[in-house]
Amino acid sequence: MSGKRVLVVDAGGRGNAIAHAFARSEAVETVYVAPGNAGSEMMKKCRLATMQGTAPKTISELLAFAKLVKIDLTFVGPEGYLSDGIVNIFQEEGQRILGPHREAAILENSKCTTKDLLKGLRVPVPLCRNFDDADSAKEYAMHHCSENPGKGLVIKADGLAAGKGTVVCATTEEALSTIDRIMVSPRLFGKAGERIEIEERLQGRELMFFALSDGRTVQPMQSALDYKQAYASDEAVAVRLFNKNAGNPYLDNNPNTGGMGGFSPHPWLDEELTDKIMNRIAIPTVRGFKESTGHEYKGVIYFGLMISEEKEPSVLEINVRLGDPETEVILPRLETDFYQLSEAVLDGELDSVPMQWSRDVCLGICAISGRAIKPLASGGPERPGYPGEHYTNMPISGLDKVDPDILVYHNGTAKGDDSAGKRRLFTTGGRVLTLVARGKSLSEARVKAYDNIKRIHFNGMRYRKDIGLGYV
Ligand code: AMP
Ligand code: GLY
Repeated sequence: MSGKRVLVVDAGGRGNAIAHAFARSEAVETVYVAPGNAGSEMMKKCRLATMQGTAPKTISELLAFAKLVKIDLTFVGPEGYLSDGIVNIFQEEGQRILGPHREAAILENSKCTTKDLLKGLRVPVPLCRNFDDADSAKEYAMHHCSENPGKGLVIKADGLAAGKGTVVCATTEEALSTIDRIMVSPRLFGKAGERIEIEERLQGRELMFFALSDGRTVQPMQSALDYKQAYASDEAVAVRLFNKNAGNPYLDNNPNTGGMGGFSPHPWLDEELTDKIMNRIAIPTVRGFKESTGHEYKGVIYFGLMISEEKEPSVLEINVRLGDPETEVILPRLETDFYQLSEAVLDGELDSVPMQWSRDVCLGICAISGRAIKPLASGGPERPGYPGEHYTNMPISGLDKVDPDILVYHNGTAKGDDSAGKRRLFTTGGRVLTLVARGKSLSEARVKAYDNIKRIHFNGMRYRKDIGLGYV
């Protein structure tokens, strides 16, 4: 029997980590990544998908590629393709594709609808309310802040905003101004901010929990701790400079990002907490979604949770996919054959393939495009850096100095020629690379990761120095 061909649809580090997991399967001959990036070809068996010299990007191009190359299984990373119905369209054409349907992507597309559904199912969520006009939202925010002095408030744009649509506000003034910035023209997150959700601010520790559903059964995958804020708590000066350069009025607001790094497993996730999350959150959500909408949920479901001191979980958000950078620290720990597992999901036989995970800890650090050091060749204006405006096209060096047991998943890179005509790697995005080290303990993984990331350079490169700190 010839080997299987897999297509991974993703442009970032998550896609490269998914491709890497498929490539470890003996059943798999080739993993194509689309649109991918320069890091997609660095692992054995993995190749960039190309058709007539260009990377397929649209759903119809991806479908044409899958048919041309006779792909056996397609796995989708990002929410955009899922909410555009890639799974529906591929299945109508007889392709085997793993991910939830367009109808299920609402769980990530609309924070307001999802919180209403969860409340109805009695799944624990923070106290929250939805608004579609700024005046009533501000009235509620003022009332909430005066009733709960010093606690702050969380404002969330309803729709997709690349992981940046949530603003944690410390004061009433900040909450009121945030409501205006999201809801009143020019809207900070565009149409995604036509509706907002206002949530009480919870204290505790965050935990990103992943589960897999074949439509019949839901099984726990693994957890990670993702560092969402751009800066560590001791970087107040850098936060102020960022906000000044970004034109943000609240100079002390540490902005949220798609994720700055993380580690897996989460130190708080024991069997008891896993059971609690599965029985009170994951299973009721997947079942309740089917009962209330008629649509089956097949694929990965991601719960962003806050865990209280009493170890009680509360759902901050749901995503209909794997996370980035969580995937980069979770999937290297998977010992089960990922191709076999994906087939079992598609066949509705997930309970026949038990998931096995290594006890090792994986810790990942994201190298991002921060404030570039002048003089930029273009002499351009000062940009605050990711998650704000940032420069790209910076040459990257030092990857050849990294130890062989370190994984470097590329988030935003491309190959090109420098001014001397030399073939090099360049930055193309806000998040550029996720460097992952594994160890028998968190401290071992942490030491290795920080030792290696120092060997990589590009103009403006920045990373958080505190990933894993406080847990070792
Ligand atoms: P979300 O977009 O809902 O995942 O929120 C992004 C980040 O904002 C989370 O990872 C938390 O750090 C923070 N956050 C969101 N909701 C709350 C909440 N209700 N209380 C405290 N922090 C929150
Ligand atoms: N790291 C957060 C996300 O993927 O949504």
